[in-house]
Amino acid sequence: MHQTTELVHELAEKYGRSRENLLPILQGVVEKERYLSEGSMINIARELDLSAAEVYGTATFYSFLEYKKMGQFVIRVCKTITCSMKGKNQILLTIQDMLKIGVGETTQDKKFSLLETNCLGWCHKAPAMLINDEIYTELTPEKVREILSDYMKK
Ligand code: FES
Repeated sequence: MHQTTELVHELAEKYGRSRENLLPILQGVVEKERYLSEGSMINIARELDLSAAEVYGTATFYSFLEYKKMGQFVIRVCKTITCSMKGKNQILLTIQDMLKIGVGETTQDKKFSLLETNCLGWCHKAPAMLINDEIYTELTPEKVREILSDYMKK
């Protein structure tokens, strides 16, 4: 069996094959392979019995649709309304300042990539961001600096 097929199969076994498990499965693939290929999306659609368009739509919504290889740690900052109102811009600026990259870019050492995403479902603890599949909430610039410093040591 092809590696991705196996991975998708494992993730589907782990999370279940329903529509609401699409996000953790997408995250699982992105975490292992660093990006989501067309092949993986087709595998996911097959495994969950969804249309490829549905998988594609969800992947786009969460900015998982990256055909190029991402850094070791992919930071996704929520840009949706609650997070926006609760200081998402400052969070983004803090990250950009620390890593010296803009949204959509990867650091030269290939350690970090920075993206924006839509609502991660943590609005009650906004602003929120994901680093790979780890969620960080109630962010402040100080908190972000601490989190990133820890990742920089990894
Ligand atoms: Fe950011 Fe919902 S608006 S997590």
